[in-house]
This record gives sequence, structure tokens and C-alpha cells, in this order.
Amino acid sequence: MAPAAPAAATHTMNKLLLHPAAKPLLFALALLPFAQLLWGAVANTLGANPAEALIRGTGDWVLRFLCITLAVTPLREAFGLTGLARLRRMLGNFAFFYGVLHFLCYAWLDMGLDLTGIVADIPKRPFILVGTLALLLMAPLAATSFNRAIQALGAARWKRLHQAVYAIGLLGLLHFFWMRAGKNDFGEWTIYAVVMAVLLGWRVRQALRRRAASRPPGARATS
Ligand code: HEM
Repeated sequence: MAPAAPAAATHTMNKLLLHPAAKPLLFALALLPFAQLLWGAVANTLGANPAEALIRGTGDWVLRFLCITLAVTPLREAFGLTGLARLRRMLGNFAFFYGVLHFLCYAWLDMGLDLTGIVADIPKRPFILVGTLALLLMAPLAATSFNRAIQALGAARWKRLHQAVYAIGLLGLLHFFWMRAGKNDFGEWTIYAVVMAVLLGWRVRQALRRRAASRPPGARATS
């Protein structure tokens, strides 16, 4: 009798997630940080250093969308929220969208769109190099995020390619760590690190469980 309430809640959640309005609503919500930063820039309410606020604000949202995207599968499997799956690609694409904005803010506001300066700056500052690597790895995932690409690549190859999201998350975390290390300020970084560790740890646990389950019973008993 006890599981009836959670089952009803899961059913209601899935109904909401599968509602035709769920995707447009999420799209509008995901654009809110962009609108807020744009409005702040236009109204000049971003504080004493608007360029820094824009670079940092967009950087924060890349990392947040990466965490949210990585959380989809654990939430789906742990709580039976199957309706979440259809929103994952959009969330990943928003991580890339904020990544491109973040890079453009840096290229424009930090480097004055000086292409030679940017090319020289990237390898000079390790945290920028790591961020660039993460963004470059995100590009093929965004480029293959539509149904025709899945068909062209085949589901298995597409899935393997999209596993790069874990490396991207870790590179993003390293980028943030390196940036904050110069200021000896790790408070916010630790929160992201814990979230990523939980999400990636969950994945590792699932993979180990699947591997153990696929072993023949005799092999399981003797190992
Ligand atoms: C997946 C890719 C990336 C992620 C997740 C990311 C994330 C972040 C985060 C979280 C911050 C700190 C925000 C804060 O202090 O609140 C940041 C700062 C910054 N990032 Fe990125 N970033 C990425 C790629 C890049 C790239 C490609 C560049 C430039 C080529 C870049 C340049 C910078 C700069 C210049 C700062 C500000 C440093 C400062 O104010 O001292 N990032 N990034």
C-alpha cells in the first residue's frame, strides 16, 4: 500500500514532463539567465565591472547546464521520471549556447576581438586552455544533437560520442578550479565539485552493477 503515493507523484510528474508545453516552457526558462544578463548590460546594472560580470555570469551558466544535463539520467532512473529524457538534448544544447556566449564575451570584452591576441592568450593561460578544450569538445555534441544525426551515426556510436559530456564536465570544473586557485577562493567551486562527484559516482556505480549482472552466475560466485 505504501508505494501508492510515490507512484502517483511519479505519474503526475511524468504527465507534466510529457505535456506539449513542457519543452517550450523549459526553452523560455533556460533563456532567462541570458535575458537577465542582456538586460543588466543594457540598463548598466551589472556593477562596477560589467565585462567581468558577463564573462563570469555566462561561465556559471555553462557549468550549471552541464550539471543539470548530467543529472537527467540519474533522476530518470532513480525516480522513474521517464519524461525527463526528451528534455536532455535541449539542456545540453543550452550548455553549449552559454559556452559560446561565454567565449564571445571573453573574445570581445577581454580581448577586444583581437584574433591574434586570442590565439596567443589561449595556450598562455592554462585555465583558458582547459576551457577552450571543453568548448571544442562540446561542439560535435551540439552538432549531432538532432534526430537525423543519430540515424546517420547509429545509436551506439552516437551514445559513445555523447559520453564526452563527462570529460567536458570535468574539464569545466578544472577550468573553474584553476581560475579560482589564483584567488584562493574555493567555496563555490566545492559545491559544483560535490554535485559532479555525486553524478559521476552514480554513473560509475551503475556501470559496475551492469557489468556484474552481465557476468555468468558461476563467474560472479568465484570472483
Ligand atoms: C565548457 C566550457 C567552459 C566552462 C564550463 C566555463 C566555466 C567558467 C566558470 C564557472 C567561470 C567562473 C565564473 C565565476 O567566477 O562565477 C569561468 C570564468 C572564465 N572563463 Fe570559462 N568556461 C568555459 C570555457 C571557457 C572558454 C572557452 C574561455 C575562453 C577562451 C573561458 C574564459 C573564461 C574567463 C576569461 C573567465 C573569467 C576569469 C576571471 O574573471 O578572472 N572559459 N568560466
